[in-house]
Formats: sequence, structure tokens, C-alpha cells
Amino acid sequence: MRFPKDFFFGAASAAYQVEGAWNEDGKGISNWDVFSKIPGKTFEGTNGDVAIDHYHRYKEDVKLMAEMGLDSYRFSISWARIIPDGDGEINEKGIEFYNNLIDECLKYGIVPFATLYHWDMPQALEEKGGWTNKKTINAFVKYAKTCFEAFGDRVKHWITFNETIVFCSSGYLTGTHPPGISNDIKKYFTATHNVFTAHAKTVMEYKKLRQYGEIGITHVFSPAFSVDEEEENKFAAYHANQYEIAWYYDPILKGSYPEYVVKQLEEKGWLPDWNEEELKVIKEAADQNGFIGLNYYQPQRVMKNKDLSRSVTRTRENCTGAPGNVSFDGVYRTVKMEDKVYTKWGWEIAPEAFLDGLRNLRDNYGDIKIYITENGLGDADPIIENEVMDVPRIKFIEAHLKAIKNAIREGINLKGYYAWSVIDLLSWLNGYKKQYGFIYVDHKNKLQRKKKLSFYWYKRVIEERGENI
Ligand code: BG6
Repeated sequence: MRFPKDFFFGAASAAYQVEGAWNEDGKGISNWDVFSKIPGKTFEGTNGDVAIDHYHRYKEDVKLMAEMGLDSYRFSISWARIIPDGDGEINEKGIEFYNNLIDECLKYGIVPFATLYHWDMPQALEEKGGWTNKKTINAFVKYAKTCFEAFGDRVKHWITFNETIVFCSSGYLTGTHPPGISNDIKKYFTATHNVFTAHAKTVMEYKKLRQYGEIGITHVFSPAFSVDEEEENKFAAYHANQYEIAWYYDPILKGSYPEYVVKQLEEKGWLPDWNEEELKVIKEAADQNGFIGLNYYQPQRVMKNKDLSRSVTRTRENCTGAPGNVSFDGVYRTVKMEDKVYTKWGWEIAPEAFLDGLRNLRDNYGDIKIYITENGLGDADPIIENEVMDVPRIKFIEAHLKAIKNAIREGINLKGYYAWSVIDLLSWLNGYKKQYGFIYVDHKNKLQRKKKLSFYWYKRVIEERGENI
């Protein structure tokens, strides 16, 4: 079986992780520009000031993508480049950069897939409360509308937010992302609700413009599975899926919040301050939402947490289900299992769980349109005689593409696959040591680009439309 003709073989990146040029051409300062410079916050103090200099080298990078045969490139737009203070004047130079990038993609027939928010927020808004401030909602809608008007003639695929669970939980529970607040559960839920409201209002705004493209959102997809058949552990998995899947997917796809979570938040005083108008727009937008983007790296293996002393010690890794963490409410914990395989960073490699998760998603939400907007292997790639021999990445992606093929065979409505990442880039907290790309960037040699083994492999997969997967 070949993948369907309209299936996108793509790859992805995010503005802060690739662009650099942090203070050039009128760009405003973002929360990450500030946060990454606080001592101890990132691996070896790495930051995105230069990143891999995609801002200046996008032509060379897009040319390489074309050579690889990519159908589509998923990138994100930096809000602070478009509206430096988040809510004021538009920066024409910022518009110009993305116009050029989009045109460069189209020159080679690469379909641009744009994310409006991949975590870098104008610092001026962060200082006023970021996603806990309701004014940020309208500022975001204004920014999104600016992008639709500037790029919507050529960009027909839009993602509002990337991984709400990560930037909200890291920002307000673990304090590992801006604004660096720990254990503020009320703020965490408030931020998520404000993001969903912003998503909903943006979807409605997009529809009003009648640009005839599609708009959706990207979520972490890290389904929880019980470690065994014990009732208490099966319940732990149910609880995890309610808080980490249903809380995020229900408002987007069903237009309402899961009762199980709402009831508990009410009891505990963690319910966001929402109003009727917000709940109404969330309801309306669910019918207009075009697709769901899934970022799948690993599942969660969970069991009941019995060690209450560890209840709130979380690391950033917990957001995507990595083992060894306790949920923010102390109900369950994620564990490493003897019979599973893990990456160097301790993330489980589990393509079967991916397929199982997709089946559950279909059972819960019906025939929704899905893009895999991220999936890939973070590794310290071996270099042998000057060649980047990233065989483990090839194996990883191949196994996940196989799962996707099977899902399509079963009738799951999967329309594209975006490997994370197109090129080696800055990991938010792990610097440059953890690599994901098809293209290597030599930090000791003026950021020179070099094709990895996986580059040639993915090129062939695309040429053959995945027939041999
Ligand atoms: C996803 C993000 O959570 O995971 C990406 O959307 C990120 O931006 C990727 O780079 C991998 O995370 P990490 O921590 O391994 O760099």
C-alpha cells in the first residue's frame, strides 16, 4: 500500500528553535528571550539568540527541504516579530520575513503549514500576566487576524496553538518554562481555559474571512495505559486520560469540558473563572474546527501513586509522559517498565501504543481529521567518518509510519505526518545535544548544514509514497 495522494509527508520546526535574529528588523523581545537568560534555566545556558540562524538562511534550508522532497513544511510564526509588544503596531519587516519564507516554500511546491503560537509570547504581554490575563485572548486574536490577512492568500493550513499542556503546565506547575511559576494549580487551569477561548475566537475569526483553508490546534498525544490489570491502576490511567486528554481535546472537539474533571476542580477550588460568553464561543468553534494535530512521542505507563511525599515533584519531561514522575494532584505516577524500550533521554519508544491511542481517540471523538504534527527521536547522533549515521532515527520513524499506515487501513482519518524536526534545532531545555533533524547543523563550523543518513532515507520514502514501509 502506498500512502494516499493527498497525504502530506512533512517535517516541522518552531520559530524560537530555529530563527535566531532575536533582536533584528524590529522584532520585539519574547518571554523566551528573557527566560532563557536567567541562570540555570536551560541546559548550559543555551538560548535562541542565534539558534541555527534560519532567519538568514531560510533559502538554503528550504532548498534542502525541496531536495528531500517534502510535501509540506510546518513552521511557527513569532508573535513578537509581527507585533513587537503583542498588542500594538505591526512590524512590516516581520511580515516581510514570513512572506519570503512562504514564497520560498511555494517556489518548490512545498505546502506551508503555519503554527501561530509555539510558546514564544511577546514579553510585554507576559509581564501583564500572560495566559492568565484575559486581555491576552483578544491580543492573540488580533495577531492571528493580522497573519491571516497577510499570509492567508497562500497559507491554507493553520494551527492556533502548539501543545497547550506543555506551556501551561511548565509555566505554572513546574516552573520550567516562562513565566516560571511553580505549583499554582488555579493559574494552570485558568491559563488552559484562556488558551482554548483564544483558539475558539480565532477559529471563528478565520471562518469570517472566508479564506477557504483549514484551522485546527496541535495537542500533545500521550495516552495513558495502566501498567497492569489491577483496578486501582486502571483507575489511575482513566484519571490521567481525563486530565491530560479529555481536558484538552473535549473543548476543541466536543465544545465542552469533561464533567469528571470539572466536578473535581469545583470541589478543590481550581475551576478557572470562566463566563457564559467564553463557554459559548468554545461550543460554537468546535463545529468549525478543521482538524486536530497530534504530537506523539510516547505513551504514559501509569499506576496509582502511593508515595504522597512525592506528590508535586515534576520535571518538564512529565508533560509528555516520561517515566518517574507524579501527577500534579498526586493521584498517579508514571513508571518505567522492564519490558519496554527507551531513548537515551528515557522516553519510551512505543509505536504500538501510538496505534492503540489512535483507536481510542477515534472511539471517543469519532471520525476527526488528524495530522501527526510532530513525531521523532531525540538522540545524540553518531558521527562516523564524517557522516551522521542516524540509523536509530530511521528505525523510529519507520516504525511510527507503519503504525500510521495501519491506522489508515483501519479507516482512521490521518492526513499527514510531520517529523520533528526538519533540521537540528535548539531544544528548549536540552540545548543542541539532543538532536531530532534530517539535517545536521555543525555548531563548530559556522552552522554549516549537512545531510544525515535519514535525509536520504526520508527522501526515498516520499518518492515511493511509503510503499515499502
Ligand atoms: C515538543 C515541542 O514538545 O517536543 C518541540 O513541540 C520540542 O518544540 C519537542 O522541541 C522535543 O522536546 P525536547 O525537550 O526533546 O527538545
